[in-house]
Amino acid sequence: MPPSPQRSGDPEAGYRYLLYGDVVRSGIPLELLRSLLGENADDLGREGDSKGLPYMFNAVEAPNGVKVAAPTCLTCHAERLNGQLIIGLGNNTSDYTRSAPSPLFDRAVEMRYGKNSPEWTAYWPFSRSQKALALYIRTAVRGPNPADKIFAALAAHRRADDLMWLDSAQFQLPIEVVPTDVPAWWLLKKKNALYYNALGRGDFARLSSASAMLTLTDTAEARRVDAYMPDVIAWIRTLQPPKYPYPIDSVLAAQGRVVFEKNCSKCHGTYGEKPSYPNRVVELSHIGTDPLLAQSYQKYPEYHTWYNRSWFAQGPHKGELRPTNGYIAPPLDGIWATAPYLHNGSVPTVADLLQSTQRPRYWRRSFDNSDYDPTRLGWQYRAEDKPTSSDTYDTTLPGYSNSGHTFGDRLSDEERRAVIEYLKTL
Ligand code: HEC
Ligand code: HEC
Repeated sequence: MPPSPQRSGDPEAGYRYLLYGDVVRSGIPLELLRSLLGENADDLGREGDSKGLPYMFNAVEAPNGVKVAAPTCLTCHAERLNGQLIIGLGNNTSDYTRSAPSPLFDRAVEMRYGKNSPEWTAYWPFSRSQKALALYIRTAVRGPNPADKIFAALAAHRRADDLMWLDSAQFQLPIEVVPTDVPAWWLLKKKNALYYNALGRGDFARLSSASAMLTLTDTAEARRVDAYMPDVIAWIRTLQPPKYPYPIDSVLAAQGRVVFEKNCSKCHGTYGEKPSYPNRVVELSHIGTDPLLAQSYQKYPEYHTWYNRSWFAQGPHKGELRPTNGYIAPPLDGIWATAPYLHNGSVPTVADLLQSTQRPRYWRRSFDNSDYDPTRLGWQYRAEDKPTSSDTYDTTLPGYSNSGHTFGDRLSDEERRAVIEYLKTL
Protein backbone atom coordinates (compact mmCIF):
# COMPACT_ATOMS: atom_id res chain seq x y z
CA MET A 1 0.00 0.00 0.00
CA PRO A 2 1.57 3.29 -1.06
CA PRO A 3 1.01 6.37 1.19
CA SER A 4 -1.33 9.20 0.27
CA PRO A 5 -0.85 12.88 1.19
CA GLN A 6 -2.24 13.89 4.60
CA ARG A 7 -3.19 17.23 6.12
CA SER A 8 -1.16 18.23 9.16
CA GLY A 9 -2.74 19.27 12.45
CA ASP A 10 -2.19 20.38 16.02
CA PRO A 11 -2.22 17.38 18.42
CA GLU A 12 -3.19 19.40 21.50
CA ALA A 13 -6.15 20.96 19.74
CA GLY A 14 -7.08 17.46 18.57
CA TYR A 15 -7.13 16.08 22.10
CA ARG A 16 -9.27 19.00 23.25
CA TYR A 17 -11.70 18.34 20.41
CA LEU A 18 -11.91 14.67 21.43
CA LEU A 19 -12.79 15.63 25.01
CA TYR A 20 -15.09 18.58 24.31
CA GLY A 21 -15.90 18.57 20.59
CA ASP A 22 -19.13 18.14 18.71
CA VAL A 23 -18.58 15.54 15.98
CA VAL A 24 -22.03 14.40 17.04
CA ARG A 25 -24.32 17.31 17.79
CA SER A 26 -27.45 15.63 19.03
CA GLY A 27 -28.06 13.43 22.05
CA ILE A 28 -29.76 13.07 25.36
CA PRO A 29 -30.55 16.44 27.00
CA LEU A 30 -27.68 17.02 29.40
CA GLU A 31 -29.88 17.80 32.36
CA LEU A 32 -31.87 14.59 31.86
CA LEU A 33 -28.79 12.37 31.52
CA ARG A 34 -27.27 13.88 34.64
CA SER A 35 -30.39 13.23 36.66
CA LEU A 36 -30.38 9.60 35.44
CA LEU A 37 -26.66 8.91 35.93
CA GLY A 38 -25.56 11.22 38.73
CA GLU A 39 -21.91 12.27 38.89
CA ASN A 40 -19.43 9.97 37.18
CA ALA A 41 -15.81 9.73 38.23
CA ASP A 42 -14.71 8.63 34.75
CA ASP A 43 -14.90 12.11 33.24
CA LEU A 44 -11.19 12.30 32.22
CA GLY A 45 -10.80 15.31 34.48
CA ARG A 46 -12.84 17.54 32.21
CA GLU A 47 -14.16 20.94 33.17
CA GLY A 48 -17.33 22.87 32.52
CA ASP A 49 -20.44 21.06 31.34
CA SER A 50 -18.52 17.82 30.70
CA LYS A 51 -17.37 17.60 34.33
CA GLY A 52 -18.85 14.47 35.90
CA LEU A 53 -20.00 13.11 32.53
CA PRO A 54 -18.85 9.56 31.56
CA TYR A 55 -15.93 9.82 29.12
CA MET A 56 -17.90 8.45 26.15
CA PHE A 57 -20.14 11.52 26.13
CA ASN A 58 -19.29 15.14 25.43
CA ALA A 59 -21.49 18.00 26.58
CA VAL A 60 -22.25 19.95 23.40
CA GLU A 61 -24.75 22.48 22.12
CA ALA A 62 -27.24 21.20 19.58
CA PRO A 63 -27.86 23.52 16.59
CA ASN A 64 -30.86 25.01 18.46
CA GLY A 65 -28.77 25.80 21.53
CA VAL A 66 -29.99 23.01 23.85
CA LYS A 67 -27.18 21.33 25.79
CA VAL A 68 -26.99 17.60 25.10
CA ALA A 69 -24.72 14.67 26.00
CA ALA A 70 -23.49 13.35 22.64
CA PRO A 71 -21.61 10.06 22.12
CA THR A 72 -17.97 10.37 21.00
CA CYS A 73 -15.17 8.42 19.35
CA LEU A 74 -14.16 7.14 22.80
CA THR A 75 -17.32 5.01 22.99
CA CYS A 76 -15.36 2.59 20.83
CA HIS A 77 -11.76 3.86 21.04
CA ALA A 78 -11.09 3.71 24.81
CA GLU A 79 -11.02 0.69 27.09
CA ARG A 80 -9.82 -0.44 30.51
CA LEU A 81 -7.02 -2.92 31.06
CA ASN A 82 -6.02 -4.06 34.54
CA GLY A 83 -8.24 -1.32 35.93
CA GLN A 84 -6.65 1.49 33.93
CA LEU A 85 -8.51 3.40 31.22
CA ILE A 86 -6.40 3.54 28.04
CA ILE A 87 -7.49 6.03 25.39
CA GLY A 88 -6.82 4.54 21.98
CA LEU A 89 -7.22 0.93 23.09
CA GLY A 90 -10.23 -0.49 21.24
CA ASN A 91 -13.32 -1.21 23.29
CA ASN A 92 -13.50 -5.01 23.49
CA THR A 93 -16.27 -5.43 26.05
CA SER A 94 -19.24 -3.61 24.52
CA ASP A 95 -22.36 -5.65 24.03
CA TYR A 96 -24.19 -5.20 20.74
CA THR A 97 -26.14 -8.44 21.08
CA ARG A 98 -29.23 -6.69 22.33
CA SER A 99 -28.97 -3.51 20.39
CA ALA A 100 -32.60 -2.47 20.21
CA PRO A 101 -33.13 1.31 20.16
CA SER A 102 -33.97 2.36 23.66
CA PRO A 103 -37.64 3.37 23.85
CA LEU A 104 -36.79 4.37 27.42
CA PHE A 105 -34.92 7.47 26.32
CA ASP A 106 -37.66 8.46 23.87
CA ARG A 107 -40.18 8.16 26.66
CA ALA A 108 -38.03 9.96 29.22
CA VAL A 109 -37.39 12.91 26.89
CA GLU A 110 -41.04 13.08 25.90
CA MET A 111 -42.31 12.90 29.48
CA ARG A 112 -39.96 15.52 30.78
CA TYR A 113 -40.10 18.03 27.94
CA GLY A 114 -42.88 17.06 25.54
CA LYS A 115 -42.55 16.48 21.80
CA ASN A 116 -42.91 20.16 20.89
CA SER A 117 -39.94 21.19 23.02
CA PRO A 118 -36.51 22.40 21.90
CA GLU A 119 -35.09 19.46 23.93
CA TRP A 120 -36.97 16.96 21.74
CA THR A 121 -35.73 18.73 18.59
CA ALA A 122 -32.15 18.53 19.92
CA TYR A 123 -32.57 14.83 20.76
CA TRP A 124 -34.45 13.65 17.66
CA PRO A 125 -31.61 13.23 15.09
CA PHE A 126 -29.82 10.92 17.55
CA SER A 127 -32.91 8.85 18.22
CA ARG A 128 -33.78 8.68 14.52
CA SER A 129 -30.35 7.26 13.66
CA GLN A 130 -30.51 4.72 16.46
CA LYS A 131 -33.79 3.45 15.05
CA ALA A 132 -32.46 3.30 11.48
CA LEU A 133 -29.38 1.38 12.64
CA ALA A 134 -30.93 -1.03 15.10
CA LEU A 135 -31.74 -3.75 12.61
CA TYR A 136 -28.22 -3.84 11.19
CA ILE A 137 -25.89 -3.69 14.16
CA ARG A 138 -26.82 -6.63 16.28
CA THR A 139 -23.84 -8.91 16.83
CA ALA A 140 -24.17 -12.59 17.72
CA VAL A 141 -21.68 -12.44 20.58
CA ARG A 142 -20.47 -9.88 23.06
CA GLY A 143 -17.21 -8.06 22.32
CA PRO A 144 -17.04 -7.41 18.56
CA ASN A 145 -18.13 -4.10 17.09
CA PRO A 146 -20.50 -3.54 14.14
CA ALA A 147 -18.96 -0.20 13.01
CA ASP A 148 -18.68 -1.19 9.34
CA LYS A 149 -22.43 -1.67 9.18
CA ILE A 150 -23.09 1.52 11.12
CA PHE A 151 -21.52 3.56 8.33
CA ALA A 152 -23.17 1.58 5.57
CA ALA A 153 -26.59 1.94 7.21
CA LEU A 154 -26.13 5.69 7.76
CA ALA A 155 -25.08 6.11 4.13
CA ALA A 156 -28.27 4.36 3.05
CA HIS A 157 -30.17 7.13 4.85
CA ARG A 158 -28.25 10.12 3.50
CA ARG A 159 -28.11 11.69 0.06
CA ALA A 160 -24.58 11.41 -1.30
CA ASP A 161 -24.16 14.98 -2.53
CA ASP A 162 -25.68 17.13 0.23
CA LEU A 163 -25.76 14.51 3.05
CA MET A 164 -29.40 15.32 3.89
CA TRP A 165 -31.30 12.66 5.83
CA LEU A 166 -33.67 10.28 4.00
CA ASP A 167 -36.36 8.58 6.02
CA SER A 168 -36.38 5.47 3.87
CA ALA A 169 -33.18 3.71 2.88
CA GLN A 170 -32.05 4.32 -0.71
CA PHE A 171 -30.29 0.96 -1.00
CA GLN A 172 -30.75 -2.45 0.57
CA LEU A 173 -28.28 -3.77 3.08
CA PRO A 174 -27.81 -7.34 4.22
CA ILE A 175 -28.92 -7.85 7.81
CA GLU A 176 -25.86 -9.95 8.66
CA VAL A 177 -23.38 -8.02 10.77
CA VAL A 178 -19.67 -8.11 10.04
CA PRO A 179 -18.03 -8.34 13.46
CA THR A 180 -14.77 -6.43 13.98
CA ASP A 181 -12.38 -5.92 16.86
CA VAL A 182 -11.69 -2.18 17.28
CA PRO A 183 -8.04 -1.56 16.23
CA ALA A 184 -5.64 0.29 18.57
CA TRP A 185 -5.16 3.93 17.62
CA TRP A 186 -1.41 3.91 18.31
CA LEU A 187 -0.91 1.79 15.15
CA LEU A 188 -2.26 4.51 12.88
CA LYS A 189 1.03 6.37 12.52
CA LYS A 190 2.55 3.45 10.59
CA LYS A 191 -0.36 2.89 8.25
CA ASN A 192 -0.81 3.99 4.65
CA ALA A 193 -4.45 2.85 4.50
CA LEU A 194 -7.19 2.64 7.10
CA TYR A 195 -9.27 -0.35 8.19
CA TYR A 196 -8.58 -4.06 8.21
CA ASN A 197 -9.07 -4.53 4.49
CA ALA A 198 -7.05 -1.35 3.73
CA LEU A 199 -10.26 0.14 2.39
CA GLY A 200 -9.66 3.71 3.54
CA ARG A 201 -7.43 5.69 1.18
CA GLY A 202 -6.81 9.37 0.69
CA ASP A 203 -7.11 11.82 3.58
CA PHE A 204 -7.40 10.02 6.95
CA ALA A 205 -8.99 13.06 8.60
CA ARG A 206 -11.73 13.19 5.98
CA LEU A 207 -12.30 9.43 6.33
CA SER A 208 -12.60 9.73 10.10
CA SER A 209 -15.02 12.62 9.92
CA ALA A 210 -17.66 10.17 8.62
CA SER A 211 -18.65 9.56 12.27
CA ALA A 212 -20.53 12.85 12.06
CA MET A 213 -23.01 11.12 9.73
CA LEU A 214 -24.81 9.92 12.84
CA THR A 215 -26.52 13.25 13.38
CA LEU A 216 -25.26 15.97 11.04
CA THR A 217 -27.80 18.26 9.40
CA ASP A 218 -26.03 19.16 6.13
CA THR A 219 -22.68 19.62 4.39
CA ALA A 220 -21.98 22.88 6.23
CA GLU A 221 -21.82 20.83 9.41
CA ALA A 222 -19.73 18.12 7.75
CA ARG A 223 -17.28 20.85 6.68
CA ARG A 224 -17.09 22.16 10.23
CA VAL A 225 -16.27 18.72 11.70
CA ASP A 226 -13.83 18.00 8.87
CA ALA A 227 -11.85 21.14 9.74
CA TYR A 228 -11.11 19.77 13.23
CA MET A 229 -10.27 16.24 12.15
CA PRO A 230 -6.65 16.83 11.04
CA ASP A 231 -5.96 17.87 14.66
CA VAL A 232 -7.58 14.68 15.98
CA ILE A 233 -5.52 12.54 13.59
CA ALA A 234 -2.38 14.47 14.61
CA TRP A 235 -3.10 13.63 18.25
CA ILE A 236 -3.77 9.96 17.44
CA ARG A 237 -0.37 9.85 15.73
CA THR A 238 1.33 10.86 18.99
CA LEU A 239 -0.01 7.85 20.90
CA GLN A 240 2.43 5.23 22.15
CA PRO A 241 1.46 1.65 22.99
CA PRO A 242 1.30 0.80 26.72
CA LYS A 243 4.35 -1.08 28.01
CA TYR A 244 4.06 -4.73 29.04
CA PRO A 245 3.83 -4.43 32.85
CA TYR A 246 5.19 -7.84 33.92
CA PRO A 247 8.77 -9.23 33.93
CA ILE A 248 10.31 -10.19 30.56
CA ASP A 249 13.04 -12.82 30.04
CA SER A 250 15.39 -10.74 27.88
CA VAL A 251 17.58 -13.68 26.78
CA LEU A 252 14.56 -15.59 25.51
CA ALA A 253 13.16 -12.42 23.93
CA ALA A 254 16.43 -11.91 22.02
CA GLN A 255 16.14 -15.47 20.64
CA GLY A 256 12.54 -14.72 19.76
CA ARG A 257 13.55 -11.66 17.78
CA VAL A 258 15.66 -13.81 15.47
CA VAL A 259 12.78 -16.25 14.92
CA PHE A 260 10.39 -13.32 14.37
CA GLU A 261 12.58 -11.58 11.82
CA LYS A 262 12.95 -14.83 9.89
CA ASN A 263 9.27 -15.86 9.93
CA CYS A 264 7.12 -12.80 10.50
CA SER A 265 8.90 -9.57 9.52
CA LYS A 266 8.18 -9.72 5.81
CA CYS A 267 4.54 -9.02 6.68
CA HIS A 268 4.67 -7.35 10.12
CA GLY A 269 7.89 -5.34 9.80
CA THR A 270 10.80 -4.87 12.19
CA TYR A 271 10.93 -3.09 15.54
CA GLY A 272 13.49 -1.38 17.73
CA GLU A 273 16.17 1.06 16.59
CA LYS A 274 15.29 1.36 12.91
CA PRO A 275 11.73 0.12 12.57
CA SER A 276 10.24 -0.75 9.20
CA TYR A 277 6.69 -1.56 8.23
CA PRO A 278 5.74 -2.86 4.78
CA ASN A 279 2.00 -1.94 4.77
CA ARG A 280 1.28 -5.26 3.13
CA VAL A 281 -2.17 -6.55 2.22
CA VAL A 282 -2.32 -10.35 2.20
CA GLU A 283 -4.85 -11.97 -0.15
CA LEU A 284 -7.67 -13.99 1.40
CA SER A 285 -6.42 -17.13 -0.34
CA HIS A 286 -3.07 -16.79 1.47
CA ILE A 287 -4.11 -15.49 4.90
CA GLY A 288 -7.14 -17.79 5.23
CA THR A 289 -8.79 -15.83 8.05
CA ASP A 290 -12.52 -15.20 8.06
CA PRO A 291 -13.42 -13.84 4.59
CA LEU A 292 -16.75 -12.11 5.40
CA LEU A 293 -15.40 -8.59 6.00
CA ALA A 294 -13.35 -8.43 2.80
CA GLN A 295 -15.99 -10.22 0.74
CA SER A 296 -18.85 -8.05 1.93
CA TYR A 297 -17.41 -5.12 -0.04
CA GLN A 298 -17.24 -7.26 -3.18
CA LYS A 299 -20.74 -8.59 -2.68
CA TYR A 300 -22.39 -5.33 -1.62
CA PRO A 301 -20.69 -2.44 -3.42
CA GLU A 302 -23.51 0.00 -2.52
CA TYR A 303 -21.76 1.59 0.45
CA HIS A 304 -18.32 2.30 -1.03
CA THR A 305 -19.94 3.34 -4.32
CA TRP A 306 -22.07 5.81 -2.35
CA TYR A 307 -19.02 7.08 -0.47
CA ASN A 308 -16.94 7.64 -3.59
CA ARG A 309 -19.72 9.77 -5.09
CA SER A 310 -20.43 11.61 -1.84
CA TRP A 311 -19.40 14.93 -0.32
CA PHE A 312 -16.64 13.07 1.55
CA ALA A 313 -14.90 12.14 -1.71
CA GLN A 314 -14.69 15.68 -3.14
CA GLY A 315 -11.98 18.33 -3.19
CA PRO A 316 -8.24 18.28 -2.51
CA HIS A 317 -8.52 16.37 0.79
CA LYS A 318 -10.90 13.69 -0.32
CA GLY A 319 -11.39 10.30 1.26
CA GLU A 320 -11.73 7.24 -0.92
CA LEU A 321 -12.91 3.71 -0.21
CA ARG A 322 -11.11 1.12 -2.33
CA PRO A 323 -11.79 -2.43 -1.17
CA THR A 324 -9.10 -5.08 -1.44
CA ASN A 325 -9.42 -8.81 -1.46
CA GLY A 326 -7.51 -9.41 1.74
CA TYR A 327 -6.37 -8.00 5.07
CA ILE A 328 -3.51 -5.78 6.03
CA ALA A 329 -0.83 -7.36 8.25
CA PRO A 330 -1.02 -4.96 11.20
CA PRO A 331 1.92 -3.48 13.09
CA LEU A 332 2.37 -5.45 16.33
CA ASP A 333 3.29 -2.59 18.68
CA GLY A 334 1.58 -3.09 22.04
CA ILE A 335 0.13 -6.39 20.78
CA TRP A 336 0.09 -7.76 24.36
CA ALA A 337 -2.67 -5.27 25.25
CA THR A 338 -5.01 -5.73 22.30
CA ALA A 339 -6.56 -9.18 22.82
CA PRO A 340 -8.61 -10.76 21.38
CA TYR A 341 -6.85 -11.27 18.06
CA LEU A 342 -7.53 -11.19 14.32
CA HIS A 343 -9.82 -8.63 12.73
CA ASN A 344 -12.89 -10.30 14.18
CA GLY A 345 -11.46 -10.86 17.67
CA SER A 346 -11.92 -14.61 17.33
CA VAL A 347 -8.74 -15.79 19.09
CA PRO A 348 -8.36 -15.06 22.82
CA THR A 349 -4.55 -15.17 23.16
CA VAL A 350 -1.36 -14.77 21.12
CA ALA A 351 -0.34 -18.32 22.13
CA ASP A 352 -3.49 -19.67 20.48
CA LEU A 353 -2.99 -17.47 17.45
CA LEU A 354 0.48 -18.98 16.92
CA GLN A 355 -0.75 -22.58 17.23
CA SER A 356 -3.87 -22.81 15.12
CA THR A 357 -4.79 -26.38 16.17
CA GLN A 358 -5.29 -25.36 19.79
CA ARG A 359 -7.58 -22.37 19.12
CA PRO A 360 -10.85 -22.86 21.01
CA ARG A 361 -14.03 -23.25 18.95
CA TYR A 362 -16.24 -21.87 21.73
CA TRP A 363 -14.62 -19.74 24.41
CA ARG A 364 -15.84 -17.60 27.20
CA ARG A 365 -14.16 -14.89 29.21
CA SER A 366 -15.31 -13.00 32.27
CA PHE A 367 -15.16 -9.55 30.57
CA ASP A 368 -13.37 -8.43 33.72
CA ASN A 369 -10.46 -6.36 32.39
CA SER A 370 -8.10 -7.63 35.10
CA ASP A 371 -8.48 -11.26 33.96
CA TYR A 372 -5.34 -10.94 31.88
CA ASP A 373 -3.10 -13.93 31.07
CA PRO A 374 0.52 -12.67 31.07
CA THR A 375 1.95 -16.01 29.86
CA ARG A 376 -0.24 -16.63 26.83
CA LEU A 377 -0.76 -12.90 26.16
CA GLY A 378 -4.46 -12.31 26.12
CA TRP A 379 -7.59 -13.12 28.04
CA GLN A 380 -8.05 -15.86 30.59
CA TYR A 381 -10.83 -17.97 29.14
CA ARG A 382 -12.70 -21.24 29.40
CA ALA A 383 -13.27 -23.45 26.35
CA GLU A 384 -16.82 -24.76 26.12
CA ASP A 385 -18.50 -27.68 24.31
CA LYS A 386 -21.26 -25.39 23.13
CA PRO A 387 -22.12 -21.75 23.71
CA THR A 388 -23.76 -21.09 27.07
CA SER A 389 -24.82 -17.52 26.24
CA SER A 390 -23.89 -14.62 23.99
CA ASP A 391 -20.85 -14.10 26.24
CA THR A 392 -19.43 -17.22 24.57
CA TYR A 393 -17.49 -16.45 21.39
CA ASP A 394 -18.86 -18.87 18.77
CA THR A 395 -16.32 -19.33 15.96
CA THR A 396 -18.70 -21.50 13.91
CA LEU A 397 -20.83 -18.49 12.91
CA PRO A 398 -20.37 -16.68 9.57
CA GLY A 399 -17.92 -13.81 10.12
CA TYR A 400 -16.70 -15.19 13.44
CA SER A 401 -14.36 -17.96 12.22
CA ASN A 402 -10.92 -18.36 13.83
CA SER A 403 -9.35 -20.04 10.79
CA GLY A 404 -6.20 -19.07 8.92
CA HIS A 405 -2.95 -17.32 9.81
CA THR A 406 -1.18 -20.64 10.37
CA PHE A 407 2.31 -19.12 10.19
CA GLY A 408 3.06 -20.00 13.82
CA ASP A 409 2.32 -23.70 13.32
CA ARG A 410 5.62 -24.42 11.64
CA LEU A 411 7.60 -23.19 14.67
CA SER A 412 8.77 -25.54 17.44
CA ASP A 413 7.31 -25.07 20.93
CA GLU A 414 10.62 -23.50 21.97
CA GLU A 415 10.56 -21.03 19.07
CA ARG A 416 6.95 -20.09 19.80
CA ARG A 417 7.77 -19.41 23.44
CA ALA A 418 10.65 -17.21 22.33
CA VAL A 419 8.52 -15.28 19.81
CA ILE A 420 5.86 -14.64 22.46
CA GLU A 421 8.57 -13.34 24.81
CA TYR A 422 9.79 -11.03 22.05
CA LEU A 423 6.27 -9.77 21.28
CA LYS A 424 6.02 -8.61 24.91
CA THR A 425 8.77 -6.09 24.20
CA LEU A 426 6.97 -4.39 21.27
C1 HEC B 1 -19.20 2.56 17.04
C2 HEC B 1 -17.80 2.43 17.31
C3 HEC B 1 -16.83 3.46 16.73
C4 HEC B 1 -16.89 4.83 16.85
C5 HEC B 1 -17.93 5.67 17.55
C6 HEC B 1 -15.72 5.32 16.17
N1 HEC B 1 -14.97 4.27 15.67
FE1 HEC B 1 -13.22 4.41 14.71
N2 HEC B 1 -13.26 2.41 14.32
C7 HEC B 1 -14.20 1.52 14.82
C8 HEC B 1 -13.94 0.20 14.26
C9 HEC B 1 -14.71 -1.08 14.56
C10 HEC B 1 -12.84 0.33 13.40
C11 HEC B 1 -12.23 -0.77 12.52
C12 HEC B 1 -13.10 -0.96 11.29
C13 HEC B 1 -12.44 -1.77 10.22
O1 HEC B 1 -11.21 -1.75 10.11
O2 HEC B 1 -13.14 -2.46 9.45
C14 HEC B 1 -12.44 1.74 13.48
C15 HEC B 1 -11.35 2.28 12.79
C16 HEC B 1 -10.90 3.58 12.95
C17 HEC B 1 -9.69 4.08 12.37
C18 HEC B 1 -8.72 3.31 11.50
C19 HEC B 1 -7.74 2.56 12.33
C20 HEC B 1 -6.85 1.65 11.54
O3 HEC B 1 -5.82 1.28 12.09
O4 HEC B 1 -7.17 1.26 10.41
C21 HEC B 1 -9.57 5.40 12.74
C22 HEC B 1 -8.45 6.36 12.40
C23 HEC B 1 -10.73 5.71 13.54
N3 HEC B 1 -11.51 4.58 13.66
C24 HEC B 1 -10.99 6.95 14.09
C25 HEC B 1 -12.18 7.27 14.70
C26 HEC B 1 -12.54 8.63 15.12
C27 HEC B 1 -11.64 9.85 14.99
C28 HEC B 1 -13.80 8.56 15.65
C29 HEC B 1 -14.66 9.69 16.17
C30 HEC B 1 -14.81 10.82 15.29
C31 HEC B 1 -14.20 7.16 15.58
N4 HEC B 1 -13.20 6.42 15.00
C32 HEC B 1 -15.40 6.67 16.06
C33 HEC B 1 -15.21 1.84 15.68
C34 HEC B 1 -15.63 3.12 16.00
C1 HEC C 1 2.08 -13.65 4.89
C2 HEC C 1 2.06 -12.54 5.83
C3 HEC C 1 2.12 -12.87 7.32
C4 HEC C 1 3.07 -13.62 8.00
C5 HEC C 1 4.27 -14.36 7.44
C6 HEC C 1 2.71 -13.52 9.39
N1 HEC C 1 1.58 -12.77 9.55
FE1 HEC C 1 0.71 -12.28 11.29
N2 HEC C 1 -0.83 -11.42 10.30
C7 HEC C 1 -0.92 -11.26 8.94
C8 HEC C 1 -2.18 -10.69 8.59
C9 HEC C 1 -2.67 -10.34 7.21
C10 HEC C 1 -2.88 -10.55 9.80
C11 HEC C 1 -4.32 -10.01 9.97
C12 HEC C 1 -5.27 -11.13 9.67
C13 HEC C 1 -6.71 -10.85 10.08
O1 HEC C 1 -6.92 -10.03 10.99
O2 HEC C 1 -7.62 -11.48 9.51
C14 HEC C 1 -2.00 -10.99 10.86
C15 HEC C 1 -2.30 -10.96 12.21
C16 HEC C 1 -1.40 -11.25 13.22
C17 HEC C 1 -1.62 -11.05 14.62
C18 HEC C 1 -2.92 -10.51 15.23
C19 HEC C 1 -2.94 -9.03 15.18
C20 HEC C 1 -4.14 -8.45 15.85
O3 HEC C 1 -4.06 -7.29 16.25
O4 HEC C 1 -5.17 -9.11 15.99
C21 HEC C 1 -0.49 -11.43 15.29
C22 HEC C 1 -0.25 -11.40 16.79
C23 HEC C 1 0.43 -11.90 14.31
N3 HEC C 1 -0.15 -11.77 13.04
C24 HEC C 1 1.69 -12.41 14.58
C25 HEC C 1 2.48 -13.04 13.64
C26 HEC C 1 3.69 -13.75 13.97
C27 HEC C 1 4.30 -13.87 15.36
C28 HEC C 1 4.17 -14.26 12.80
C29 HEC C 1 5.38 -15.11 12.58
C30 HEC C 1 5.37 -16.38 13.26
C31 HEC C 1 3.26 -13.83 11.75
N4 HEC C 1 2.26 -13.11 12.30
C32 HEC C 1 3.45 -14.11 10.40
C33 HEC C 1 0.07 -11.60 8.02
C34 HEC C 1 1.18 -12.36 8.31
